[in-house]
Amino acid sequence: MMTAELAGSQVIIELVYLIASVLFILSLKWMSSPTTARHGIWAGEVGMLLAICGTLLHHGIVDYRLIAIGLVLGTIIGVPLGRVAMTAVPQRTALSHAFGALCVTLVGSAEFYLRAPNISRFMMSVLSLEVILGGLTVTGSLMAAGKLQEILPQRPLTYKGQNLVNLVLLVGALVIAVSLVLHPEARSLFPFMILIALAFGVLLIIPIGGADMPTVISLLNGYAGLSAAAMGFVLDSKLLIIAGALDGSSGLILSIIMSKAMNRSFTNVLFGAFGQVQTSHAAGEEARPVRSATPEEAAAILSAANRVIVVPGYGMAVAQAQHKVRELYDSLSKRGVDVRFAIHPVAGRMPGHMNVLLAEADIPYDRLIEMEEINGDFPQTDVALVIGANDVTNPAARSDASSPIYGMPILDVDKAHTAMVIKRSMNPGFAGIDNPLYYLDNTLMLFGDAKAFVGSIVRELSGGHG
Ligand code: TAP
Repeated sequence: MMTAELAGSQVIIELVYLIASVLFILSLKWMSSPTTARHGIWAGEVGMLLAICGTLLHHGIVDYRLIAIGLVLGTIIGVPLGRVAMTAVPQRTALSHAFGALCVTLVGSAEFYLRAPNISRFMMSVLSLEVILGGLTVTGSLMAAGKLQEILPQRPLTYKGQNLVNLVLLVGALVIAVSLVLHPEARSLFPFMILIALAFGVLLIIPIGGADMPTVISLLNGYAGLSAAAMGFVLDSKLLIIAGALDGSSGLILSIIMSKAMNRSFTNVLFGAFGQVQTSHAAGEEARPVRSATPEEAAAILSAANRVIVVPGYGMAVAQAQHKVRELYDSLSKRGVDVRFAIHPVAGRMPGHMNVLLAEADIPYDRLIEMEEINGDFPQTDVALVIGANDVTNPAARSDASSPIYGMPILDVDKAHTAMVIKRSMNPGFAGIDNPLYYLDNTLMLFGDAKAFVGSIVRELSGGHG
């Protein structure tokens, strides 16, 4: 190829990469609001397509056959992965991180063996960072996906001196990295650095309970992004540096937001072994009395209310009750009842879980109110209707210093005139603890599946209306 042609195609590639980078940035910005989130997804997808096309124009490619096989295989694996149930999205996301990190680690290894010992100190440092972060993200993400899919035990596994072992491994990997920076000719050390990173990923996740997995997945997302950014330096790709930095920082920020919403520190999430089976409410303990109500009674209370706040949680997702909830919203709104939805940042099992479900059922965005904004309104609310939420309404988080969720901000459902809770049993939620809300005088338990129970309330309301 002539030099002018080469320079021309390089300009096109850089331009395509620039547009892709801008689309990635816009994608993140748009995804931060439910009204623009769909545009955000489109921008991200188009950006990724452009990035792939730009890369395919690269003059270094001599044979497209292997790339074509890779694209076909990737599509065959990717399409079914995109069709999982929404409740399985966290583990699916973890799998994507594992694949991405595997790619980063393999590319880093190939670059090392192509270049070493003729590699600058800066490049070797970045390359080491790339493969250490990449390696630990591969196994860490696979472990996290396995725990969430319940292929592996969700229970935290702890042993004496665990943190010390992990620390020694991490220091070991870093010592090898420094040795390679100083002596890149010691190529035989490289596989050990990767093996240690892989082992570290497994051991890092073992002591973390299932309840903390979404936070950890988000953290691993951050690591995967940072390792991709490091790969950008190694491959001299500005696009990868930008995309990796965006991915890395958004993953880290999200895990900080989630930790805050659960009132947990990072060290507590990573080393606290949270999610162990609670023993404070042992089986066989005297069952405390609760008051329950039928769908007819619930419908009568709701139709007599002026203000209702619906509090959705994980149970609404499990029951796929969002469309029935929409019918309930319509039915009550028609009667002049003011119905709003209180969104707790960690309700459900993944960030934005409730927003996505309620948006799917076309509930107007302006009816979804964030926790800080709506919490002050519960005392003036006639009915707080909790649909499959538990931990995010537990008043023990406010008052019981011995509770494992003490300090976690909750929705003040107990302050409403009447709280009604739809769930199937007295079983605990994710944190595995009892909820004092259920025993209060102003609480009525509505026992049943969320979709079926809300459906019965809607039928009662329309029967009474017609
Ligand atoms: P949970 O506390 O897990 O409670 C969900 C409740 O739904 C359960 O008590 C269950 O009671 C009920 N339920 C399950 N299936 C149901 C069905 N078909 N119909 C009716 N009810 C049903 O949920 P939450 O209040 O949404 O809190 C989320 C928890 O997950 C918090 O502990 C949070 O820290 C944790 N977590 C969330 C995230 C994110 S990002 N969302 C991340 C990490 C951790 P029954 O079995 O009696 O029906």
